[in-house]
Amino acid sequence: MSLRKTIAAAGLLLLMFSALSPGQAPEARIKIDLDRVLGEVHPHLFGNFAEHLGRCIYGGIYEPGSPLADADGYRKDVMEATRNLGVTILRWPGGNFVSGYDWKDGIGPRASRPVRPEGAWGALEPNTFGADEFLRYCERLGVEPYICINAGLGTISDARDWVEYVNGAQKTYWADQRRKNGRDRPYAVKYWGLGNEIDGPWQLGHKNAEDYSKFALEAAKAMRRVDPSIKLIASGSSFFSGDWIGWNRVVLEKLREEIDYISLHTYIGNRDNNFERFLANGQLVDNYIEVLKGQILATQSAMRNPRPIYIAYDEWNVWYRARGGSEHATGATRLEEIYNCEDALAMGMFLNSFIRNADIVKMANLAQLVNVIAPIFTNAKGLFLQPIYFPLMEYARQRGNQSLDLLVKAPTYQVGNRKPIPYLDVSATYEPKGRTVYVNVLNRSEKNDIRASLEGVAPAGGNVDVWELSHADLKTTHTFGDDRKVRPQTRRQAASSQGAAFSHTFPKHSLTILKIQAQ
Ligand code: AHR
Repeated sequence: MSLRKTIAAAGLLLLMFSALSPGQAPEARIKIDLDRVLGEVHPHLFGNFAEHLGRCIYGGIYEPGSPLADADGYRKDVMEATRNLGVTILRWPGGNFVSGYDWKDGIGPRASRPVRPEGAWGALEPNTFGADEFLRYCERLGVEPYICINAGLGTISDARDWVEYVNGAQKTYWADQRRKNGRDRPYAVKYWGLGNEIDGPWQLGHKNAEDYSKFALEAAKAMRRVDPSIKLIASGSSFFSGDWIGWNRVVLEKLREEIDYISLHTYIGNRDNNFERFLANGQLVDNYIEVLKGQILATQSAMRNPRPIYIAYDEWNVWYRARGGSEHATGATRLEEIYNCEDALAMGMFLNSFIRNADIVKMANLAQLVNVIAPIFTNAKGLFLQPIYFPLMEYARQRGNQSLDLLVKAPTYQVGNRKPIPYLDVSATYEPKGRTVYVNVLNRSEKNDIRASLEGVAPAGGNVDVWELSHADLKTTHTFGDDRKVRPQTRRQAASSQGAAFSHTFPKHSLTILKIQAQ
C-alpha cells in the first residue's frame, strides 16, 4: 500500500472511531417525508416456504397420529404459530426437492402412493403429503399458495398437467382426477414458479441459462393455455459465485413476454464470528436487488409495451451452521439451525432492504417455516419459537403500508473495499388512514448506542411506541420450555421533541421499531 493510501485509510478509521468512541452517543439523522412514497409494502413480502426436507413437512406441518394434530394430520400448534407470524404466501414443495419430484405421486388414496428415493437431500419421500394436503393447508391458514414446478428432471407436460389438476374448471382428465380425490372446486392457484435454482450446479437437472429459458418459455406457454390468469416466477440467480448477472440477463431477455417475477435467493452466515461484518450483508442484498432492477429496466426499455416484472426474493435467511457434516446438516434433523439473537437482528437487515426496495420487490419468502432453517421448532411434544420469529412477526404488521424514501446520516463502517455503510440500517413505512409511521432501525454497532434525531414527523401527544429487540449476549438461543430470553421489549415513551423532530437512542446491537402517530 502506498504512503498516501495508508494515511487515507488511517484517516478513515480515525473518523469512524472518533465518531464512535465507547460510551459516547454519536449523532445521526433520519429524515422522514410522508410524500416521498417508494411503493406499497406488498403483503407478499411476508411470505414463507415449506419444502419436503428434513422435518419441515413431516414432523413439522404434518404429523398424522400425533395428539397435537387435527383430523387431517396438520399440527395445530404449528398452525397457530404460523398464523401469529403473519405469513401471507407459502411456497411449496421445494427448493432442491422439487427438481426430482413427480407431483402425480402425491395424489389419490394415500395407501397407494409410492415411496420414492429423494434425490436432493437423500431421504425417502413417502408422498403422504401432496398437492391436495398442501392446498387444504393453505386454505385453513388463509395464506396464498405458491407452487414451484419441476424444471430440473421434470417435463413441460408434467407442469401443464399440474395446472390442470389444481386449477382446471372443465370436465377434463386431470380436473376429474382432482374431483375424484374429493375436491370439486378448482383451487385457483395464482402463483407458479418456473423451477428452483436451475442456475446452481447442485440442482438436479441443472441447465445453462439458454436451455433453462427454452424450457421455461415453453412450460409457461403450456401452463397458460390451461389457465391464462396465472402469475409466473422465473428462476433467477442463486449462485453468486457464478455468472449470476449473465444468467439473469438471458432469462429476462428470453422470458420477458411471459414472466411476472424473477427470483433471487440469498443465505448469509457469520462464520468468522464478526457481528458487524455479518450485518453488513445487507449491502449485498441491496446490491443484488439494485443490479437486477437495472436489468429488468434495461429489458423493458427494449419493449414497446413492457409487461411489469418484479423481484420475488423467494428464499432468504441465515443458514451456515447446519450445512457441512454435522447431524443437523445431513441426518434426520437436516438443516436444523438453532438461531440466536444476532440472527434475529439479521431479519431486520433483510426486511429493511426489501422495504427500501418495495417498488420492485413484491414478494419475499423466508426459507423456511418449521424445523428446517425456521422460526418454529417442534418435537413430538410441542414447539418453541426461535429468536428470529419475533422480528418477522412484528414487521409483518406493516404489510400494505407505503414504503418511504428516507434521508439517513449516521456514522459509517466499511467491510473490505466495499463502500462505507451506516451503522444504522433503516427503513420506514406509512399507513395513511391511521396516519401511523413505522421506523425500523437496526443498530449494527456491536459496542455503541447511537442517538438519532428523527425529523419530519411530530408525534401526536408527544409519545412514541417502542418495540426493541436485543440481548446482552448475542449468542443467546432458545430451546423447548425456554423461549423467552430473546423477546422484544415494548413501551410507550415520551418523545423529547422540538416541533417536527424528536430524538431517540438506538442501543448497541439492537433492532428497534418506532411506531409514531403523526399529528
Ligand atoms: O432452503 C434450503 C435449500 O436452499 C433449498 O432447497 C434450495 O433451493 C436452496 O439452495
